[in-house]
Amino acid sequence: MPRPSHTSLPDTVHSPLRIGLMGFGCVGQGLYDILQQLPEFGAEVRRIAVKNPAKTRPLPAHRFEYHADALLDDPELDVLIEVIDDAAEAFRLVKAALQQGRRVITANKAMLARHLPELVQLQEQFGGTLLYEASVCGSIPILRTLDAHFGSEPLRSVSGILNGSSNYVLTRMTQEGTDYAAALAEAQLLGFAETDPTLDMAAFDPRSKAVILAAHAYGLLLQPEQVLHLGIEAITPTDIAYAQAQGHKIKVVATLEQLPDGRVTALVAPTFVAADSPLYTVEHEFNGVSVEAAFAGTQFLRGRGAGGHPTGSAVLSDLAALQRQQAYGYTKLRQTAPAFTNNLAVEIYLRTPKENVLEALTLTDVSVEGSGPEGYFAVGYTTLATLLEQRENLRQAGALVVRTGPIRITEVAQQVAESALAQ
Ligand SMILES: NC(=O)c1ccc[n+]([C@@H]2O[C@H](COP(=O)([O-])OP(=O)(O)OC[C@H]3O[C@@H](n4cnc5c(N)ncnc54)[C@H](OP(=O)(O)O)[C@@H]3O)[C@@H](O)[C@H]2O)c1
Repeated sequence: MPRPSHTSLPDTVHSPLRIGLMGFGCVGQGLYDILQQLPEFGAEVRRIAVKNPAKTRPLPAHRFEYHADALLDDPELDVLIEVIDDAAEAFRLVKAALQQGRRVITANKAMLARHLPELVQLQEQFGGTLLYEASVCGSIPILRTLDAHFGSEPLRSVSGILNGSSNYVLTRMTQEGTDYAAALAEAQLLGFAETDPTLDMAAFDPRSKAVILAAHAYGLLLQPEQVLHLGIEAITPTDIAYAQAQGHKIKVVATLEQLPDGRVTALVAPTFVAADSPLYTVEHEFNGVSVEAAFAGTQFLRGRGAGGHPTGSAVLSDLAALQRQQAYGYTKLRQTAPAFTNNLAVEIYLRTPKENVLEALTLTDVSVEGSGPEGYFAVGYTTLATLLEQRENLRQAGALVVRTGPIRITEVAQQVAESALAQ
């Protein structure tokens, strides 16, 4: 993967900024509304491309067109904003725009997580700019914070609640004793969860965000499949009660962590969160991210992770950055990337209706084990690599895995790391 050596922009920025908007759903309309309320901002939505000609729109029909490629072909547009809901098409459009050296903003985390290396390389090759603050944690300015503010500072960890839908479900289950299906139906009714909830509840969405964070926090370009992601589809009130009895809440936490030996790991999993963690009070559809920096210490950002206005606000901040001729510095991406590892031990709580899952995880140092009406349960150590390998089996078996403790270097991994350092 080529590392970027510089990011260049055309010398002048037209005022007002002439925007080509691709997509007019939740995010597109949110941004449009914000710009209507801020005429002094200096941006004008010139053209809007959508997909379905039969849909009723909140603006007159003449404002819409149905071929996003026509926006690509318009050299008068200063910025192209891609906020469509089709990752493959989004990649085609963003790639084509960057090949023209254009300024592009996207919110599409699934597309970015899959194609970030190529998109970074296209910016480098053709001199365009891609900004994507809205893709991680909606309104929370985490990417610019990592890229600009912490661009030169080593980070011990970045961890957070990056998915509002699953957090909403867990909050309802914890506070009201609601069961999973009812809490999910409520989240869907309120518009927090997708019609197909798998992306949120099986943690595909926060995995995409973890991949994007890894690029800015550590200069690591990961493929989504390298990152363990465990969801909450199998969670029951029994699991919530078990956590509460230990003084914890269960939250889906994405963790990026640099180990003392310099290697970096990343995972997304339901996790025991203690009352002294800033994540403990992040409830409902809110997101929160904690950054532990080598010199600054710990900082915490909390805010709305989704919705038209919060996400539109992040796109607005990208527009403002483009007005100021700013692009991501990718400072850490220009340095030698740290090694990535899943060869680490972690303590988990496992509950599974099927005994063979218990065997497959080869738990060690088991401190709790037994069985009940909802299957077998145990608390013990396994490795991230084993969980990654067994992820689909766990899901098919209807098992729940909750991380209950810190990540540890296993003895085998320690020996490998020491012999590598000795060479
Ligand atoms: N919603 C959020 O809170 C949120 C937060 C962060 C990031 N995001 C990301 O932002 C993006 C947009 O999400 P959304 O919630 O706004 O989606 P949405 O409400 O489903 O709207 C999608 C829009 O894209 C349009 N579209 C789809 N395919 C198109 C194509 N080929 N050409 C032109 N337009 C096309 C649709 O057209 P029609 O109107 O004709 O159907 C619709 O206007 C996604 O990548 C999502 O992951 C969303």
